[in-house]
Amino acid sequence: MDSFVEEVLLEHKDIVDICNRLGKELTADYQDKRPILVGLLKGSIPFLAELIKHIKCDLEIDFMQASSYEGTKSKGTVMVLKDLITPVIGRHLLIVEDIVDTGFTLQEVMNLLQDRGAASIEVVTLLDKPAGRKVDVTPKYIGKTIPNKFVIGFGLDYNEIYRNLDYVGVLKESVYKK
Ligand code: IMP
Repeated sequence: MDSFVEEVLLEHKDIVDICNRLGKELTADYQDKRPILVGLLKGSIPFLAELIKHIKCDLEIDFMQASSYEGTKSKGTVMVLKDLITPVIGRHLLIVEDIVDTGFTLQEVMNLLQDRGAASIEVVTLLDKPAGRKVDVTPKYIGKTIPNKFVIGFGLDYNEIYRNLDYVGVLKESVYKK
């Protein structure tokens, strides 16, 4: 195990299994709807890339970047740093997240996309940390529910590093509590 990791939560094969399960559900739910998968940058990239291999219907992808984090703490205010290119009016949107913690990011992004006239908006997230929730948002599709710990890997970062790990692990506190 890497020296900065306390505990591995998902091995790479577990992530592929999760994407396979979610892909089957999404294939059934989105047949003939041509959804737009809205990847929230940057953390959703590895998850979105694996997930779409398992969805067997027509779909589009686009990306948004919204930020509320500094280090390991949510600031509670969300800024849109990069917007979608595709018009969303009348379209079925599936927001792809790496992790839902306080829910601030999702709530803001969902409100924005609703105001633009999307036909439907649902959320698929690799990880859910319900103990961290500060607003009432519940992702419809969840890969794994995890305890309230700071995790890294498979897109998730600490100060922009560790996104390239092919697994998800809990970051040792000694790395950020100095
Ligand atoms: P929320 O707005 O608090 O729900 O946070 C969502 C975003 O915060 C995620 O897309 C991640 O980028 C980041 N985040 C939340 N928890 C963690 C974590 O444990 N590790 C790394 N990033 C996290």
